[in-house]
Amino acid sequence: MKDATIEAIKSGWRHLDTARAYQNEYVVGEAIRESIRKGYITSRNELCITGKLWNGHMKPKDVAPALEATLRDLGIDEINLYLNHWPWPNVHAPGCTGDQRNPGAVPYIHEAFLETWGAICKLKKAGKIIDIGTSNHTRATIALLLRDVAAEERPVCNQMELHPLFQQTELRRYFESEGITCTGYMAMGSPKRPSRDKFKEHKSDLDHPVIQQIARECDISAGQVCLAWAAQREKHSGGYVVMSTNSKHIRENLVPATQDLLSEDQMLRIDGDSTDANPGIDANNRLIWGQVFLWPEADGNWRLLWDDSQVFLTPDGYQKFKTSWNAHHAVQLATTSGRAK
Ligand SMILES: NC(=O)c1ccc[n+]([C@@H]2O[C@H](COP(=O)([O-])OP(=O)(O)OC[C@H]3O[C@@H](n4cnc5c(N)ncnc54)[C@H](OP(=O)(O)O)[C@@H]3O)[C@@H](O)[C@H]2O)c1
Repeated sequence: MKDATIEAIKSGWRHLDTARAYQNEYVVGEAIRESIRKGYITSRNELCITGKLWNGHMKPKDVAPALEATLRDLGIDEINLYLNHWPWPNVHAPGCTGDQRNPGAVPYIHEAFLETWGAICKLKKAGKIIDIGTSNHTRATIALLLRDVAAEERPVCNQMELHPLFQQTELRRYFESEGITCTGYMAMGSPKRPSRDKFKEHKSDLDHPVIQQIARECDISAGQVCLAWAAQREKHSGGYVVMSTNSKHIRENLVPATQDLLSEDQMLRIDGDSTDANPGIDANNRLIWGQVFLWPEADGNWRLLWDDSQVFLTPDGYQKFKTSWNAHHAVQLATTSGRAK
């Protein structure tokens, strides 16, 4: 990762997307320092560095120490953009398998999230953070946040899964309408993601025939088609993050950030416009299901992480729901046959 980061900075990359959860902030910090020593950049101020507060550090008392650890490891005094990694405090062990569940996991509870957010805002006021943002927020959870925060406490960015086969156009437009820029992760469909996050239902962006055909037309790679679409879509209103440890990929992945590689017609073939003539290729193909974050009342259904059907205003509200759900579940177990038993 150190070599890849240095190679990226040398090639011209200026935004580094990091997170406490990736357990490599120190290595990224070393790469920044070495890039300065080698003259690829003159100072850290030439970089825009994003960091993320991990779920396990969302208690208000844990937020400042978590950011301090991030700043120390990266070797910087302030972070350009600090995101809340996920909207709830559910953790899993690093590298755990997909069937692991944390019995203490909870759904989104707005009052609790506001406390975390308040602690993040304090660090912004103290000058440790330049801009604040969210990651993996849904329509309901962001609407609640925007309802309850002051103008200077609004997120400027939401990092979310976005790629040609998972476009999330409606949600993205909602964020945009609120002045929140969307950065897409897994922008080329995360071809080498861990097996925990691979399911037989998933489709491959890089292998999609329309992506492949456009790559041939433009004489660019399928990966570049995905990134060019991310950069150009919706009037160039958002951005992408992409990971690579390969020099050729690191260089080619930067091109779509500075040049429009796709024509309007090629964009339309990916976007679609809801007509029979232009269906587009969105397949609602979500790759991060987040199953390791599920709470008991989600009953194993990962879609509940994303569909806002279990979003709670207060811990008391959730507790009431939990009690009622447990009672309902006990009756279901006692009276039905099949899956519930
Ligand atoms: N906020 C969140 O919750 C969240 C969640 C997931 C990811 N992220 C962020 O998004 C970043 C990217 O996610 P990701 O790595 O899962 O997905 P990705 O960027 O879509 O895929 C990266 C993979 O694609 C390969 N690749 C890169 N460029 C390529 C090219 N031009 N042609 C073909 N293959 C190429 C890379 O292999 P090589 O090394 O061989 O190039 C790497 O294994 C992460 O590093 C992280 O910063 C954030």
